[in-house]
Amino acid sequence: MTLAKSALIVALLAPAVALAASPAIYKARHDNFEAMGRAMKGTADSFKSGSPDIALIRANAAVLAAAAPKVTKMFPKGTGVEGNPKSEALPAIWQKPAEFAAANKRLVDATVAFKAAAAGGDMAAVQAAFGAVGGSCKNCHETFRKPRG
Ligand code: HEC
Repeated sequence: MTLAKSALIVALLAPAVALAASPAIYKARHDNFEAMGRAMKGTADSFKSGSPDIALIRANAAVLAAAAPKVTKMFPKGTGVEGNPKSEALPAIWQKPAEFAAANKRLVDATVAFKAAAAGGDMAAVQAAFGAVGGSCKNCHETFRKPRG
């Protein structure tokens, strides 16, 4: 096959591949963030109840620790608003990949610490570690997610 011919085939195939991959990746990251959101809300509600349920908090900490490392892998190039107008992903994700990775590492570290604190069971330490997880969500959203409201 000539070089020109193979270049043409690549050019014809590329858009089809991008279109096929996009909806799945938006859904995968939506589901991953929703799982984290539910785990955060469940934990916050448990603390608010006045008698926090440590078994429930441990389960939520495990969900968060499992979901956190997946975040950066779910933002391949071309999966911002250009591929889905509803996406709140800001271009900064791809313009500042090192900062984005650092923001994700902060989340990963916070969820690991939260899981360890929950395993220990000292409720003041668990609550402080939970607060740090929340802070790491906010930290990334401030720079890399479209402002809401
Ligand atoms: C490293 C960056 C980063 C971290 C850390 C992060 N998020 Fe996000 N989050 C985003 C981005 C970017 C979006 C927008 C994605 C989109 O719309 O395509 C988002 C979207 C969301 C959404 C909306 C999902 C949807 O599709 O409607 C929820 C809920 C959410 N995040 C919860 C959380 C929670 C809870 C945490 C912490 C436990 C967290 N996020 C940590 C970057 C991050």
